[in-house]
Amino acid sequence: MKIGVVGLGAMGAGIAQLAVEAGLETAGREVTDELGEKARGRIDHFLTRKVEKGQIESFDIGLLTLTTDVADLADCDVVVEAIVEELGAKQELFRELERVCRADAVLATNTSALSVTEIAGAVSTPERVVGMHFFNPAPLMPLVEIVRAERSSDEAVETVYALAKQLGKHPIRCHDTPGFVVNRVLIPLLNDCIRVLDEARVTAEDLDAGMKHGAGWPMGPCELVDLVGIDVHVHASEALWEKLREPRMAPPPRLVAMANAGLLGRKSGRGFYEY
Ligand code: 3HC
Repeated sequence: MKIGVVGLGAMGAGIAQLAVEAGLETAGREVTDELGEKARGRIDHFLTRKVEKGQIESFDIGLLTLTTDVADLADCDVVVEAIVEELGAKQELFRELERVCRADAVLATNTSALSVTEIAGAVSTPERVVGMHFFNPAPLMPLVEIVRAERSSDEAVETVYALAKQLGKHPIRCHDTPGFVVNRVLIPLLNDCIRVLDEARVTAEDLDAGMKHGAGWPMGPCELVDLVGIDVHVHASEALWEKLREPRMAPPPRLVAMANAGLLGRKSGRGFYEY
């Protein structure tokens, strides 16, 4: 099986890393050679660490080929899209993938808050479009949501379910509803946490300590939105708010201000914490 990954940012690089680790031929597409090389360096680093720690015996980075041309994904069995969370950009990419990929290739999106059905609506073969939603950091988080859109075929759903298992993940099946399963619950919960910062006048450090030591979270909510990216979280909140109109879904003003100020969390060096 050959896997294509479009977009090698934090999520895409993590997905490509899983495919290489599973011994699958992997084609990664980025917009520039430099971004592709940066992702390869990251993948090589994390897999080398796993070998050093005795978690895996070896890996073959040669399984990963890089390209800037979507046409080079023509021989992939499954392509996973992990580009910017904009419906128009995703629809345009899926139209291109439909043109270049084999007719039996499954086209999966890693979208976290957009509708898989709307993405699939851009192509003439929506039966082969599904959601394959990984969690951040993709190599460490066991869950993958396998999302059935309105017109996804059983075959496409089962292909990506089996692929998730092959990547060592714990897949769950669900239908295409706003936020799917986990984000439907987690995003309003994180927004509540951020609102509590002002309401209870608690510090970010103490809120994180509270949720870790009082609720058993592996990571505090402020640490978590810093990891996910404050812009990504605001965007996902807006998408859920737009669809569900529940006030808890709307991004808290504090997060919107941080995103506008370029305080995006780990990736920008500063969010609730400095990195
Ligand atoms: N690939 C491989 N290894 C990686 C890695 C990667 N991409 N990123 C980090 N690692 C490595 C670390 O470098 C470290 O290795 P080291 O020994 O060489 O330093 C190793 O993994 C373990 O790292 P940590 O010590 O930080 O691991 P922890 O035991 O603290 O667990 C965690 C880290 C799994 C992230 C844990 O803190 C956790 O579960 N946090 C919650 C994360 C979460 O909830 N994610 C979901 C976010 S919501 C989402 O993604 C939805 C989206 O749609 C918005």
